Order: sequence, then structure tokens, then C-alpha cells
Amino acid sequence: MHSYSLMASAKINLYLEIIGARPDGYHDLAMVLQSIDLADQIDLRPLGTNAIHLHCDHPEVPQDESNLAYKAAALMAETFPDVLAKYGGVEITIQKRIPVGAGLAGGSTNAAAVLVGLNLMWNLKLSDKQLQDLGSLLGSDVPFCIVGGTKLATGRGECLSSLPVLDDFYVVLGKYRSLCVSTAWAYQTFRHQYLTNELARENRQQEVCLEKMMSAIKDRNNGQIGQLLHNDLERVVLPEYPQVQQLRDEFRGLGCAGMMSGSGPTVFALTNSQTQAQQVLESMKIAIPDPDLDLWVSKFRDSSIRVSSLTK
Ligand code: C5P
Repeated sequence: MHSYSLMASAKINLYLEIIGARPDGYHDLAMVLQSIDLADQIDLRPLGTNAIHLHCDHPEVPQDESNLAYKAAALMAETFPDVLAKYGGVEITIQKRIPVGAGLAGGSTNAAAVLVGLNLMWNLKLSDKQLQDLGSLLGSDVPFCIVGGTKLATGRGECLSSLPVLDDFYVVLGKYRSLCVSTAWAYQTFRHQYLTNELARENRQQEVCLEKMMSAIKDRNNGQIGQLLHNDLERVVLPEYPQVQQLRDEFRGLGCAGMMSGSGPTVFALTNSQTQAQQVLESMKIAIPDPDLDLWVSKFRDSSIRVSSLTK
């Protein structure tokens, strides 16, 4: 049996609108999700026993059953017990490059890589749709992370439709290393402040612009896409985390289209070239000379998980 090395891409939200509260505690969403080439490396090695082992080089990432990548392997083992008995378990090694707790789907993309990798290693021949159905049991962003690219995501985030690929953008990402935002907190706070108050709901409704964003993407109008970036969760995260607001203001002060990704605290800015992205990054370092601030330049990708090597 082969060992597999997979690269698992992060995602950003070009658009995140909260449509309404669901009885299961989740929210119905309309999102435009985009893969970027900032990626973790996931190595999968067959084990002689039925065990699942996980190692990660990042001190804040759990290495036990609570890790979403571990849960993905456990779900595959539980769903295909005969295959597990035939081929044995797996050792998962994660080299983390995507910041943790950042709104970039780092955990979800690791889980997606394990599903895609075990599908190959165990010769299961599951379709993307079958892998996405399994992924949706693990988390709302996992189905997107199986395929990646540029997608419209609705429902809880698991109903995906393809959009024209936007592969000509570069993106500058900024995140304060010590800052993490709880996704559950962000959604629950939004629910209390905006979904239970009719006036707040109506005011917000006037600002949503999914149709315009979809047209801009179909026309591949980069300028318009930048102007139409939208994230409802900014309404609750920015007032609570002034550093995130400051990051967003600085990006905008440099003339960039900037927006928080997911529930934050990562803020991204779009640029049309690598040179421009590098200049923005350097200007940000000068504008906010805080050693706690990490900055990256990345590029849009047309897919998420890719096998980078295979060894016997
Ligand atoms: O699905 P996942 O476990 O990644 O979601 C993390 C948290 O984000 C959930 O516990 C929930 O509080 C919130 N969430 C939500 N509605 C969604 C997706 C996530 O409320 N559609």
C-alpha cells in the first residue's frame, strides 16, 4: 500500500450573508468561498494495526481524537469497517502552515485531505459527492474543502454550486497570532443582535448584495468583486475586537479591498498582482509594527486538496 502526501488549501470568504436562524442552532447562509494557496501538508502512512495516530508540528493543535482530521479518519474507519480490516489504520502527520483559529478553515481542510487521501489509500473510489456527504458530518466547511476553487455555498454551508474560477487574484492576509475568535460565539451573538430584532434585520437587509456579487464574478469584474466583498459577522466581531477593525482600516487606507474572513480574526485584502501584494504587505508592516501581527501573500487557487507525492 502507498503513503500519500497531500496539500490542503485554506479558504477565504468573499461573501458571507446570514439568511436566518435554524432550529438546529446553526444558520442558513449564502457564501462565496475561495481557495487560496496557503496550505498545510498532510502525510498519510498505512499502519499494520487498526489504529489511528496523529502528529502535528503546531503546539496549539490537539493530537488526540478531538482533532477534526482524526475524526475524519475515524469516520472513514467506522463507515468502511471491512476496508479497515483489510488495509489497516493510518498515521496522520500534519505540517501546519495555515494559522489556527483564524477563519481560514484550517481544521476543515485537514479533515477534507484525510477523506480524500483515505479514499485513494483504501481504493474506495468514492465520488466527490460521496466524500462531501461524509464531510458534512464533520463540519460545515468540510464539503467545500473537498473540492475548493470558487463556489457558492448555501444551507449550513454544505450545499455547493460552481462559479466561474477566479484564479487571477493575489491576496494579503493579516492575523494577530495571539488573537482567536470563537465561531460559535460570533454566530450566536449575531443571532441575538440581528435575527431577533425586526428593525435590525430590515436595516441589514438593505446592505446585502449577493446578486450583484454573483454578476461581478460571472463577468470576472475584479474591481466590482473587490467593492462587493461582504461579511455579516464583521458586525459583531469588529466592535468586540478593535485590532481586527484596525487591520481592516489599514488595508482600506492603502486603497485595497479588505474584509474579514469567516468569523475572523484574519483580515484579507485583494490585489491584482504579486508585486502589488508584496508592496501592501511591506506597507502593513510599517503601518502596524507589532511583532504579534503575522502577514502572508497568497494566491487564489482553482482547487483545494492535491496529492503532492505518493510513495510505496
Ligand atoms: O459546522 P462547524 O462545526 O464548522 O461550525 C462551527 C460553529 O459555527 C457551530 O457550532 C455553529 O455555532 C456555527 N455555525 C452556524 N451556522 C453555520 C455554520 C456554523 O451557526 N451555518
